[in-house]
Order: sequence, then C-alpha cells, then structure tokens
Amino acid sequence: MDKFVIQGGQPLVGEILIGGAKNSALPALAACLLTKEQVTLQRIPRVRDIRTMEKLLMYTGATVSVTGTQVNVRAENLEKAEAPYDLVKTMRASSLVLGPLVARTGRARVSMPGGCAIGARPVNLHVSALEKLGAEIRLEEGYISAEAPSGLKGAHVVFDRITVTGTEDILMAATLAQGETLIENAAREPEVQDLAALLIKMGARIEGVGTSTIRVQGVSELHGTRHAIIPDRIEAGTFLIAGAMTQGELTLQGCAPEHLDALIAKMRQAGATIESGPQSIRVTASGKMRSVDITTEEYPGFATDLQAQFMAMLTEAAGIGFVTETIFENRFMHAPELARMGANIRVEGRQAIVAGVPRLTGAQVIASDLRASASLVLAALVAKGETIIDRVYHIDRGYEKIEAKLAQAGARIRRVS
Ligand code: EPZ
Repeated sequence: MDKFVIQGGQPLVGEILIGGAKNSALPALAACLLTKEQVTLQRIPRVRDIRTMEKLLMYTGATVSVTGTQVNVRAENLEKAEAPYDLVKTMRASSLVLGPLVARTGRARVSMPGGCAIGARPVNLHVSALEKLGAEIRLEEGYISAEAPSGLKGAHVVFDRITVTGTEDILMAATLAQGETLIENAAREPEVQDLAALLIKMGARIEGVGTSTIRVQGVSELHGTRHAIIPDRIEAGTFLIAGAMTQGELTLQGCAPEHLDALIAKMRQAGATIESGPQSIRVTASGKMRSVDITTEEYPGFATDLQAQFMAMLTEAAGIGFVTETIFENRFMHAPELARMGANIRVEGRQAIVAGVPRLTGAQVIASDLRASASLVLAALVAKGETIIDRVYHIDRGYEKIEAKLAQAGARIRRVS
C-alpha cells in the first residue's frame, strides 16, 4: 500500500493543469453502451475509477482502446448485460450501466453496490425510476435483475430526492424508451449537463438540461460521436483551497470557474483573493483565513465533495466554523484524523464545529475515502513537520498524479510504496 510523506509549511506557487471530470467521464463511458457505433471521449482522467469502468465495459463485450486521455469505445455486440460483484464492489458508480444495458439489450444484471465509508448509498431511487419506465426488477442474491423484453416506455418520473447518478441512469435509459419521459426533481450538476450534451450529440432528444425538469423524446437508436469531457470542478476546488490555506499564489489552468461559484464565494468571505478568467482561476492569500460556515447542498449549492477539503482549511482559520453535511449521513471520517494533527473539531450528527488552532502538527494518519484523503493531504501541506498518510489508493480513485501536481507547485510531497 502506497503512502504519502509530506513536509508542511511550503506555500503553493505557480500553475496546475486541471484534468477532465471523473464524475462526468463515468456516465459518459456508460453512455457508450447505448449505441453499436464508436464513441470517442476526450480528456478522460487516468484514475482508478475510470479504469474500473473501462474493465466493466469490456466485460459486457464492448471494445475499449485508450490513447493518453482519449478513449474509444465500441459496444457493437454486447454478450453479457451484467456488472459482476467483484467490479461493482470497488466502485458503486457501476450502477450507471443499469439504465443503458436495459435500454439497449432489454435486460441487465447489476450487483448491488453495497455501502461505502460515507454512507449506505442505496440505489432504490434508480430502481423505482426504471420500474416506472416498464422494467421488471427483482433483487436476488445481491444482484439487481432487470427485464424489459418489449423495450422501455416513456413515463413521468419524480425523484423523491435529488440523485446525481440516479438522474444520469434514467436519462440514459429514457433516450431509447418509446415515447416521452419527464424527469422531475432531476439533478442539475454540471456532470449531468455534460452527459446530456454527449447524448444529444449521439442523436438523443433532450430538453431542460440543467434544470430540475428534464424532458426526453425516445428515439429508436443512437449513433457514435466524439466528445470532450468538462474539467473536474472538484479537483479544481481542492487545489483552490490548497492555494489559500498554504498562503500561496496559485493559478489553475484548463478549469471551468463557472462551476465553482459557491466555493469561490465562501473562500472570498474567508479572506482569499480570487480572480477568474475564461478557463483559469488564480488564488492568492497572505495571512490566515477567517472562519466561515458552510452547508453542503445539491448543485449549485456548496458541493459535498468539497466539504472535507474546506474543513481542512477551517482547522487553522481564525475563529469558529460550522460545517453542515446534508447529502450523506457519514461524511466526517476525516475529522478524527485531522484531530490527530491537532485540529479542534466537535462532530454533532450532521454538523461539525471547527475551532481554528494556530498550527497543525504532522502525524501518521489513515485515508478512509476519496475526499477525506484529499482533506488530509491539504492539512499536511500546512502542518508543522512531517505527515505520513496511509492507504492513498483512496485518493488515486479520483485524483490523477496529485503528488506530481502539488510538487511542481512547490509542495514537499512524495509517494512511498
Ligand atoms: C454522485 O454520487 C457522485 N459520484 C458523488 O461523488 C457525489 O458525492 C454525489 O453524487 C453527490 O453530489 C458520481 O457522480 C460517480 P446521489 P451519487 O445519488 O450519485 C441518497 C466523489 O467523491 N440516495 O446524488 O451516488 C444517497 O445515499 C463521489 O467523487 C438514495 O437514498 O450520489 C445520498 O444520501 C462521492 N437512494 C443522496 O441520495 C438512491 O437510489 C445523494 O446521493 C440514490 C441516492
């Protein structure tokens, strides 16, 4: 198991190039199952979750070829409309193949994802929405088995609560359903919008993207296309926070500032100076940040995937910050690890109260989930002395070469096996 060894105290200075969005690439890869023609996806980050999804597509019978950050997928003959447990257990986003497989082949057998560190993360909303479209679904032996022998039929789907991959699953299924599908209480995340842009390029008929009501007119088949994935707003947000808390001068290139309005507003309140260009954001901070309160919300609210990283910034800010997590039931796993580094955090249910301390101190800590790991890296960048972070495979799921990107901006970080 790889570890990171980090010496704190270096401000981040210079430029970092942002990669494609993992959470856009995953549904985009699943969407390739909807056509027998070749789909070319560009700016696909080379992270573990993407490789898992590529393996899953090959398992079903699609051909996948990777050249750098370009991936060609051709799902001409799908032999197995199945997502086996040993692939799904490492990545719950595998449920994204459920809708496409049923829509394209009339059946699907996808392992139940099982929970993960941040919560139970059921897929009941995906299942009930697919049933609305006419799929017959049985839950047996830990698998979701779906059948739609005469194809899916458009329907009026209202999600009980906003679900990002639930919206994506149904959006993909609806593109090949007979008739019109109305999706209400749909997710509005940029990644959902990017998926819709891809599907429309493939011939799908979709309106209302980016709003909570999406209307889809089913078509008989979709065709191949070429599409560049949007930049990763969570990677960009992570480095923005790192630039401010290390009191550096950091410019992010190749990002989409318009996807980060909620974070940028909070960081300005905390005292960071942020200027953004069409595809770049520059953050400078001289002196300590001030504490501010955050509450995670669905997009365009403050992203839950940036909560742990922002908490790391609050640990050394001046004052007390209240962090309220409304999306997942157990997303404060980073708090006890930050406390080992001297942070003063009190967790009470969905709220964490962070009282800033003068300086964190390096320690041995363990990563628990993707964004908690990022939070520990950020804390280590400012802590006094050396921090060793174990189980960094969590971070490799969603960040490509994070230690190289940070090191070339001045951080003293290295990976040891
Ligand atoms: C997506 O997960 C992201 N993953 C997550 O990013 C992100 O944290 C999350 O959206 C929220 O923004 C991908 O896009 C691959 P949800 P998803 O369905 O779709 C509950 C990362 O760090 N729910 O929007 O799984 C669920 O338990 C990952 O990159 C149900 O109850 O999240 C949660 O409490 C972590 N039943 C809430 O809804 C369902 O059927 C929102 O979950 C589905 C969801």
